[in-house]
Amino acid sequence: MTDDNAIAVRLDHVRLDRGTRTILSDIDLTVPRGSVTAVLGPSGSGKSTLLAAVTGELVPAAGRVEVFGREVPRRQRELLELRKGVGVLLQGNGLLTDLTVAENVALPLRAHTRLPDEVIGRLVEMKLHAVGLRAAADLYPRELSGGMARRVALARALALDPPLMLYDEPLTGLDPIASGVITSLISRLNDTLGLTSIIVTHHVHETLPIADRAVVIANTGIVFSGTPEELQSSSDPLVRQFLDGQPDGPIGFDAAPRERAA
Ligand SMILES: Nc1ncnc2c1ncn2[C@@H]1O[C@H](COP(=O)(O)OP(=O)(O)OP(=O)(O)O)[C@@H](O)[C@H]1O
Ligand SMILES: [Mg+2]
Repeated sequence: MTDDNAIAVRLDHVRLDRGTRTILSDIDLTVPRGSVTAVLGPSGSGKSTLLAAVTGELVPAAGRVEVFGREVPRRQRELLELRKGVGVLLQGNGLLTDLTVAENVALPLRAHTRLPDEVIGRLVEMKLHAVGLRAAADLYPRELSGGMARRVALARALALDPPLMLYDEPLTGLDPIASGVITSLISRLNDTLGLTSIIVTHHVHETLPIADRAVVIANTGIVFSGTPEELQSSSDPLVRQFLDGQPDGPIGFDAAPRERAA
């Protein structure tokens, strides 16, 4: 337990394995409360894996992960409690196709609260309003554009008013206009609701403008941590290869993590 209120998420010497492979090792990361942090890196570098450690889905092989000063618990009941405070927008949208937009957004409220239907209805309306989709409440996911579906998933992630939001590739599959809508929503929600946001993405140029901090992961570690401006002016060959999208360089083509020696 730390009493440092200014830190939302802290990783301290964290190692994350999948089976016998080390995906990330010796990760130190602090995410200040109220900030938007962009976690960047090539495909397969371990960005989603990093988020899994924050939600407690993946237990670190070494080191410590803290959310709001509390170590991420391992016991199911405590983990469930923590997760109520963490909104997650997954790589897919994860909307249930048989439910309307409003019913999808209501799901977390039904699962985690005993609020009467009327109150849930009001809250759903407010969340949909926050993402500009109040008029879409009665539509089914198949009736939505990709950008609208992403906003519904965002409204659902916000349903329980989580102080921490995790976004995994929120811009994938969206055109530039829809991407702009999502990034400005993420930024606005972060500021107006006083949230802390971590955005995992390889969409560097779309995401940096709304980020306070940027972290680049590659080759199993953090290769850069600083402000977006510092990132843009970095001359580190690894960082440049990633930012400039060059196929040849210090990042291997398949970005395959090394096998760990027993
Ligand atoms: N559940 C799992 N079991 C085993 N290996 C996994 C699992 N999830 C991810 N991996 C492996 O961990 C590595 C990192 O995967 P991860 O999904 O974190 O990458 P990423 O940076 O999010 O990539 P992308 O940008 O493509 O989403 C990959 O080599 C992947 O094969
Ligand atoms: Mg991923």
